[in-house]
Amino acid sequence: MKKLMLAVSVLLLNVPLAQAGDAKRGQELYQANCTRCHDTSIHARPNSIIHSLDGLKKRVQFCESNGRLNWSPEQIEDVAAYLNKTFYKFKE
Ligand code: HEC
Repeated sequence: MKKLMLAVSVLLLNVPLAQAGDAKRGQELYQANCTRCHDTSIHARPNSIIHSLDGLKKRVQFCESNGRLNWSPEQIEDVAAYLNKTFYKFKE
């Protein structure tokens, strides 16, 4: 079962994106890759270091490269879209 789920997620991650900023894909990416150092509660903390959508994208990229995930620009957009929709709610 674990192997099957891995195969499915590898498949999902390799599907080319029709459009940038897919929050649903972003959520999957986040859950699979971003919870090693922090969980989502960091995005609801009162002293957040994120103050704009641009700042959010830059931080996602920063954390992504720290985690050596080798993401495409689309994957960064997806995760930024997910975090913005769910937590930060900056205007696009
Ligand atoms: C190598 C450890 C590490 C990994 C992996 C990591 N982060 Fe982080 N992240 C941090 C640390 C540490 C902070 C807090 C920085 C601070 O307080 O100055 C942080 C903070 C953030 C913030 C700002 C939170 C706020 O509102 O103040 C965002 C957004 C974020 N991370 C996104 C991500 C995403 C998306 C991923 C997956 C690609 C990810 N992080 C993976 C270490 C990590």
